[in-house]
Amino acid sequence: MEVGSGTRALVTGASSGIGRALAHTLAARGARVGLAARSAPELERLAAELPGLAGGHHALPCDVSERSQVEAAVERFVAATGGIDLVVANAGIAHYGPFRELSPERIEQMTAVNWLGTVWTVRAALEPMVAAGRGHVVIVSSGAGQRAFPDAAVYGATKAAQRAFGEALRHELAGTGVSLTVAFPGEIATALHDHEKARMPAWYRGDARAASPDALADAILAAVAADRRTVAFPRLVGLLGVANGISPRFADAILRRLRGPSAAPRRD
Ligand SMILES: NC(=O)c1ccc[n+]([C@@H]2O[C@H](COP(=O)([O-])OP(=O)(O)OC[C@H]3O[C@@H](n4cnc5c(N)ncnc54)[C@H](OP(=O)(O)O)[C@@H]3O)[C@@H](O)[C@H]2O)c1
Repeated sequence: MEVGSGTRALVTGASSGIGRALAHTLAARGARVGLAARSAPELERLAAELPGLAGGHHALPCDVSERSQVEAAVERFVAATGGIDLVVANAGIAHYGPFRELSPERIEQMTAVNWLGTVWTVRAALEPMVAAGRGHVVIVSSGAGQRAFPDAAVYGATKAAQRAFGEALRHELAGTGVSLTVAFPGEIATALHDHEKARMPAWYRGDARAASPDALADAILAAVAADRRTVAFPRLVGLLGVANGISPRFADAILRRLRGPSAAPRRD
């Protein structure tokens, strides 16, 4: 699906980082954008600042972990625009650290936002798309969904759940006119880890070496236009997934070389 003038696109996690970059890119291409996240004032500001017709973009404050809130947000968007062509399930949070030090509350929160939030978003948006016989779903997973890293076991699991969900659902949607792409970003320069900068694992690089969210947004929309089942950005992330599929030990060796011993400490 080519995004252009009149495309109706709903993005979760639109107030910051990757979602915000996607909102800007979509609006610059003429789309009407539904902006979902928890921070209502930030979404209102963004709706007003995006290029396009005044009133063309919609702030849809909601917590994606609350199914009824997501359903209401999708309903509001469809009522305002008459339908939905593209949905991007992007909202997510990260809490890194050794699994045994991770509180049950943080485990539940990551599961509820990253995994269930994706399911509620896609579930709500699919009905109007399938009824219209057209549309595209994007799920923003992570390189960690292809190959999980130590100190990010639960985060990686939520991202792998998104990957498995998207893999199956793309096939289920065959013949409906609706398609699906799973995105696997590597390290992107956003606020995702701002609250935990002091305790990031040694293998994490981030910061100056992280990729731009705007370049990722372009790569995602190119994948949607080409109806690709996945998009890895930077491309090396996709190669790591391939290496891990062939041999996790081989992927360990690559990771140790690229990120040092903390990325794959066991050698058995
Ligand atoms: N940055 C990276 O290196 C990287 C790499 C791979 C994958 N990803 C994935 O990319 C996605 C976006 O992350 P980001 O890097 O752009 O981080 P970010 O800058 O922290 O943005 C996260 C967005 O999610 C929203 N959000 C968080 N909890 C929410 C909730 N319960 N309900 C609704 N919205 C919620 C936030 O808005 P509010 O706080 O206002 O709700 C914010 O808009 C995530 O799924 C993340 O796992 C990021």
